[in-house]
Amino acid sequence: MPHQNITPESPIGIFDSGIGGLTVVKAVQAALPSEKIIYFGDTARVPYGPKSQVTIRKYALDDTLILMRYQPKMIIVACNTVSALALDVVEKACGDIPVIGVLKAGAELAVGTTRNGRIGVIGTQATVCSNAYAFAINQLDEKKKVFSQACPLFVPLAEEGFIDHPATRLIAGEYLDRITREGVDTLVLGCTHYPILKSVIQETVGNEIRIIDSAEAVAQKSAELLRASGMLNPSPAPAVPHLLVSDLPQKFSSLYQLFMGAEMPDVELVEV
Ligand code: DGL
Repeated sequence: MPHQNITPESPIGIFDSGIGGLTVVKAVQAALPSEKIIYFGDTARVPYGPKSQVTIRKYALDDTLILMRYQPKMIIVACNTVSALALDVVEKACGDIPVIGVLKAGAELAVGTTRNGRIGVIGTQATVCSNAYAFAINQLDEKKKVFSQACPLFVPLAEEGFIDHPATRLIAGEYLDRITREGVDTLVLGCTHYPILKSVIQETVGNEIRIIDSAEAVAQKSAELLRASGMLNPSPAPAVPHLLVSDLPQKFSSLYQLFMGAEMPDVELVEV
């Protein structure tokens, strides 16, 4: 890889607005246990989804620059909202460091999964309004029909840890009714917070609908890219992620335990 200070031992930088990106951290850890991960959750400014494109692009740049301080060998954008509206901002700030976004991986997986060609996409207001999923899916196959629905309340429910809660069931019923009636056979979780609520979402839409979580697809893509460029970390020892947040590290800590099923390692407070 061209960058001077980058070696196979360099970390992988991953970011999201809050805890949602931990779903991606978990998948990357499972696929690449020796890789050092630096995760930044912008807990001071979550949620990104209801904000304007100008603001999201500004946040995307700030988040990338925070991770670039650690000289990562790759950046994973574990946020669909940033992947939809500001991937170019991240790529520009990274120079020759490779950048992988969750959105394209989710679109590819959905196209490969659907049998009847009808794909549902749920995401934040910004992601749905950008039409980025429909565009990415139709770039791969223009015959696929895409039905989208913004589910803005899912992000605070996930941030609250309301994994199995009547409020989540009620809101899921409200949001998912129309999309289910469109006859989709595949539903993309187009926001990295949503896999945290996956069991309620699956229960609401029924077991016939296949749910797509792009975290695993992104982890596989990252592994392939590192392998192809000879940048896999050769260490046999499993690495512990280093976590950065912009606010409330204690709250992040309890949610980390809930989602990752492990004690949270050190967490550092950074200013944005
Ligand atoms: N988890 C993010 C996403 O995938 C952002 C959610 C939010 O901050 O609104 O879109």
